[in-house]
Amino acid sequence: MSTENTARPSSSIHGIWTKRWTFILAASGSAIGLGNIWKFPYITGENGGSAFVLIYLACIFAIGIPIMIAETMLGRRGRKSPIETMRDMIAASNASGFWLIIGLMGTLAGILILSYYSVIAGWALGYIPKLASGEFAGVTGASANAIFSGEQGFLSDYKTLIFWHSVFTIVTVYIVGKGIKTGLERAVRFLMPALVLLLLILLVYSAIEGDFAKGAQFLFAFDASKLNWNSALVALGHAFFTLSLGMGSIMAYGAYMPQQDSIAKTITLVAVLDTAIALIAGLVIFPLVFAHGIEPGAGPGLMFISLPLAFGNISGGAIFGTLFFILVSMAAWTSAIALLEPAVCWLIERFKMGRQKAALLLGGIAWVLGLGSVFSFNIWQEYKLMDTFTVFDGLDFLTSNIMLPLGGLFIALFVGWVMKPEVVDAEIDMQNSSLRTAWWFVLRYIAPAAVALVFVLGVYNKFAS
Ligand code: PHE
Repeated sequence: MSTENTARPSSSIHGIWTKRWTFILAASGSAIGLGNIWKFPYITGENGGSAFVLIYLACIFAIGIPIMIAETMLGRRGRKSPIETMRDMIAASNASGFWLIIGLMGTLAGILILSYYSVIAGWALGYIPKLASGEFAGVTGASANAIFSGEQGFLSDYKTLIFWHSVFTIVTVYIVGKGIKTGLERAVRFLMPALVLLLLILLVYSAIEGDFAKGAQFLFAFDASKLNWNSALVALGHAFFTLSLGMGSIMAYGAYMPQQDSIAKTITLVAVLDTAIALIAGLVIFPLVFAHGIEPGAGPGLMFISLPLAFGNISGGAIFGTLFFILVSMAAWTSAIALLEPAVCWLIERFKMGRQKAALLLGGIAWVLGLGSVFSFNIWQEYKLMDTFTVFDGLDFLTSNIMLPLGGLFIALFVGWVMKPEVVDAEIDMQNSSLRTAWWFVLRYIAPAAVALVFVLGVYNKFAS
């Protein structure tokens, strides 16, 4: 039985986006989040700046976009949750059940990422009242650091962290529970433009108040001496993370994409927007970091130490700082929704569970797992797996640097080599034939080879050193 000949659904049981713009807003809502604003700057700082940025950009354009087109195509072709979509695609291609791993591992990765994502988003929520109350007025580097990670600091107070982690999770569960139309569509329509606007205001602000030349040089002046395979793996993993790629999110959203839209054009637009926002976030943060003598490699706390310090020392800083942390929290919500969606859809389809019940159940699981990440920054910070990983570090490494790249690799191989090329071509419907040839070549050869190489050498480098 082949799906080409049977009538395919032009819509999904979970709904369909009303307009092309709605898909673009939702997909960029998923892509743009803590990855752009919190994670990109801190891992760029940890990995030495510009050379890392260059690899990251190469990974986005040479590997990320082609695989993202493939993943979206799978979603629109299947119009179901990632797991059930993969089941259908496997049947239609007479392929081995092995490929179900794309749906299974991705859905699991979503819940694992959500567990720590909502903890970090909780930090951002917790910082809104702190900035609004003027707590940072006149702080020094040492005191901004103490407020965040000192003995009596924000991170040490795990009850407060659990409170904000809970608030974030409850709102996420509520929005996902309301369903794709009423919840997501309404949320992103308002959130995304607001976010871009706020970030641009902050960019102007940082260009005036920060050390812009030094910040820009750190991000863009190529310095190969900082390169190693593990940094390359972090850059690759982050390219997947920031594009919401390799775990079914974009597949689940693709299921709601109208049939006549061009996947390649839409996805390229989303990826460019996502990358631009990360670079703007970097250009907001690093000039402030350098103007205030903060260590660029300060780790996950970079944004939470550098920005309040800067905001605390200039006029209007409390207002800009409050706005900034509201912006980060909003961006995190539209991403968290995408992390939860694949698993929720699957429970609905497979077990006929109600949407609200499914969201509550999975949100609950992620919330409990998230406690491990909360404690990684206080009472469990000494417990390290293999002398390296706290629970938070371990989950981040496992998901970003293992599961997402592997998921992306499997998607490239499945779409490139296993599916019938005519089916793929018909669904993607690329008008420009040289672009289509280039896409096939990259998907079949370049992307799998590059991911495999960076993955193997990066993991080796991580554990050999
Ligand atoms: N892309 C989101 C971010 O950058 C995180 C995310 C990853 C969301 C995977 C969905 C799926 O913050």
